[in-house]
Amino acid sequence: MLTRVFAFGAALMAGAGCFAQSGEIVPDFDYFKNEVQPIFLAKREGNVRCIQCHYRSSNFRLQTLEEGEFFWTEEQSRMNYESALTMVLPGEDPLLSRLLTHTLARDAGGDPFHGGGTHFWSQDDPEWRIMADWVAGATERREPAELAVRIIQTNAAGDDSHVIDPETNEIIGRITDIEIPHGIVGAPDGSQLYITNEAMHALDVVDARTLRVKRRIHLSGRPNNVAVMGDGSKVYVGIMEMPGSVDIIDVASMKLVKTLPVEGAIHNIYVTPDSKHAVAGSIQRSMINVIDTETDELAWTLEMSSGIRPMAFNANPDGSTKNIFVQLSGFHGFAVVDFAARQEVARVEHPPVVGQEAHYDGLQGAPAHGLGVSPDGSTLWSTSKVYSHVYIHSLPDLEEIGQVFVGQHPEWVTFTPDGKTAYMGAAGDHVTYAVDVESMEVVAVIPVGQVPKRVAMVRMAVDAD
Ligand code: HEC
Repeated sequence: MLTRVFAFGAALMAGAGCFAQSGEIVPDFDYFKNEVQPIFLAKREGNVRCIQCHYRSSNFRLQTLEEGEFFWTEEQSRMNYESALTMVLPGEDPLLSRLLTHTLARDAGGDPFHGGGTHFWSQDDPEWRIMADWVAGATERREPAELAVRIIQTNAAGDDSHVIDPETNEIIGRITDIEIPHGIVGAPDGSQLYITNEAMHALDVVDARTLRVKRRIHLSGRPNNVAVMGDGSKVYVGIMEMPGSVDIIDVASMKLVKTLPVEGAIHNIYVTPDSKHAVAGSIQRSMINVIDTETDELAWTLEMSSGIRPMAFNANPDGSTKNIFVQLSGFHGFAVVDFAARQEVARVEHPPVVGQEAHYDGLQGAPAHGLGVSPDGSTLWSTSKVYSHVYIHSLPDLEEIGQVFVGQHPEWVTFTPDGKTAYMGAAGDHVTYAVDVESMEVVAVIPVGQVPKRVAMVRMAVDAD
């Protein structure tokens, strides 16, 4: 058991330590800065952000963010820390700390009144737990009980993204407060998600357990898609502004470390299966840009016949990249690029679906806008907005083996890691389709948000009960 002592003077003198000499708990500064502070900036639906009121409080005072900044400076974080320390009694009983009781619902053990309202409805709330752990002396987040497979559907005309549990095909969470979420990828360790925020020109880092935006990182321009290295160390963001660049974010420091000039404004970007390259496509310049992820320099480019739309990759037995499959502006199908030879080697045009009415309205230049290689590498899935179907081809021979109706304006494709289920956002129907890969039958139609386009499989940390 940890002893509880009211000793803020000693705590402050000891600085950012964890245990003061006498065995008193000194809540950790870094944990406060990185894990607790985001709670004061986060938008909880129906609530006002803590910062909106407490930047002018005399007691629990938070510093005002500097003009145009999304987070506090180191110095400001120190001041917030000191202010928060006056609101806690360090130790294992969170109900002795005003920071924890004031924001907690009364019937969950909270105070009778808080001028800022109830923010947390139970002591199991993951944000409330982060604060309770801080008060108890935590220096890092709890080990997750498991990493669960989730499908994240971003809604291109929404301010939210939906979290789908592929075991039940139910919505189990919503990530809010990101207007025009473009692309989504998950940190391989399951701790967080990266969502590009078109409205704010930011990369939003979302905590996997709270589903709140934890950090916003300024980008060099309006982003489109996003990709992450297999080891989680770096995130690549395509910047959809001419003359064209890719922003590279270092995950450890949460900083934009490089804006690499490339050929053309970038729509989609991927990291190849072996993580040796980042591949960025430009609609305006019809250019595939291949970046060496060791040097973060442009390695080679390939100009295609029209704009580069979604891409997908497969690998050789040694893990190196074999092909880039690429959808092109104005083309109803996909092209195949030989990665080693750096040239187009095949093109497949999708035939009309018999009995299916064709749609040409609102194609946005991309009749086919969703591609995915199944995890075992045996099939390629390509969606058609014109015919509301996904076309399934065998690999490597590229024979069409199936067509499945997947709603109006079907978009991106992703798979569960076991390869059993494929997911596609039907942008025109505001739903996500789940298709059983083996039987090629629709197994679920899941209502999501406005104009669901990008969809991705991620692993997400889950706390123990
Ligand atoms: C709408 C404005 C508003 C918001 C939002 C708000 N508060 Fe408050 N808070 C107040 C007011 C007013 C008081 C003083 C009255 C009282 O004690 O409730 C207060 C008091 C407090 C106190 C006690 C201060 C003391 O002197 O004892 C703490 C701690 C606190 N708030 C934490 C938070 C946290 C953490 C959040 C976000 C999760 C938050 N508040 C959100 C308005 C707000």
